[in-house]
Amino acid sequence: MTAQPENSRTGTPTAPLNIPAIRDEFPILQREINGKPLVYLDNAASAQKPEFVIESVAGVYRSYYANVHRGLHTLANESTEAFELARDDVRRFINAARTEEIVFTRGSTEAINLLAHSFGQGLKAGDEIIISRMEHHSNIVPWRILADAKGLTLRWADVNAAGELDYPQLADMVNGDTKLIAISHMSNVLGTINHAERIMEIARSAGVPVLFDGSQSAVHIPVDMQALGCDFFVFTGHKLYGPSGIGVLYARGDWLDRLPPFMGGGEMIADVYEDRLTFADPPHKFEAGTPPIADAIGLGAAIRWLERHDRAAVMEHERALMDRAVTGMAAIEGVRMIGTAQDKGAIISFAMEGAHPHDIAQILDKYGIAVRAGHHCAQPLMRHMGVSATARASFAIYNTIEEADAFVDALKKARDFLI
Ligand SMILES: Cc1ncc(COP(=O)(O)O)c(C=O)c1O
Repeated sequence: MTAQPENSRTGTPTAPLNIPAIRDEFPILQREINGKPLVYLDNAASAQKPEFVIESVAGVYRSYYANVHRGLHTLANESTEAFELARDDVRRFINAARTEEIVFTRGSTEAINLLAHSFGQGLKAGDEIIISRMEHHSNIVPWRILADAKGLTLRWADVNAAGELDYPQLADMVNGDTKLIAISHMSNVLGTINHAERIMEIARSAGVPVLFDGSQSAVHIPVDMQALGCDFFVFTGHKLYGPSGIGVLYARGDWLDRLPPFMGGGEMIADVYEDRLTFADPPHKFEAGTPPIADAIGLGAAIRWLERHDRAAVMEHERALMDRAVTGMAAIEGVRMIGTAQDKGAIISFAMEGAHPHDIAQILDKYGIAVRAGHHCAQPLMRHMGVSATARASFAIYNTIEEADAFVDALKKARDFLI
């Protein structure tokens, strides 16, 4: 098929990490911003796309686009095959046991809303759901809405001053009314990598299902659903060098058989009569309407692209970038790190005494450096850490040590200007 030019579907790593060559694969990195080379450090919000992904998506529309699953013509068969192969790419990427456990959604947000709706139907007043203080609003608001509608109690696992989860407190919180633990695998603000195995131990001892929000972790940390044994895992394509508008809900074993559907419409039914209907088998039962076809295929390409690289080497590279920036920032007066966990991915949130994060981000932009500033969709965490907003630099595979240095230099200039 023209959109699948690589030799092997699995994209097994073939060469050591070559950052200049990787950068060449990202056309946007050629851009200049305000006359300076783009230094893109907003990867936790969304990552840039390699040519391989761009071409994969364009290739769908150019060569074999048609609606999936219901056609009898060649293009419909080709697009269906590519769409379902992408589902298998996802399965392999997270080492799920079966493709039937993989639901395509429009992102992590939709995946969590799906779960809150479908899982929530089986809950009753007095039941409890545990989330944590470090959650993104995507893993707060759907549960808050559900809790308010059903009279559930939402309980908050604590986070210490370094930004680490309080595991003993989490364990104490679990009781006979706990119906779900829903916790981020990696914080989008603090960078904290939560100990998934430890959370699973706590949950397992009480027979409580677990959802991990893998929106930030999936791109940085190899994940293995069969080894982890969690019930649910979500992630989103655009943070993983893939297209926006596509995400994944993984649900272990027979969860998808047992849960009621989320949205109703075409594709998710077996038979519809005037007075009754039957649903399609999972995962289609949860994929109402025409799916984001090209985006799902693009996500498959992004996964295969990422799989070409040695993931441990990527982690080491990103860690080195973060360490370099953190060391440089330590010499800047008035800078305070928000999130200093022992286990941390390449996300640096910080505050600067006397400077608003928005002003910092705007000044950095003058130097071509893209960082994010604000509450990062984590207002309860901001309050907990005693800030209203932070600036955030987040690193990806294509960033360089020179870029980490450029960021620190520009931050010094921002400080001189603002304070
Ligand atoms: C931890 C976390 N969860 C959920 C989301 C939501 O992802 P999306 O907007 O792609 O649905 C994000 C995105 O920023 C995130 O960082």
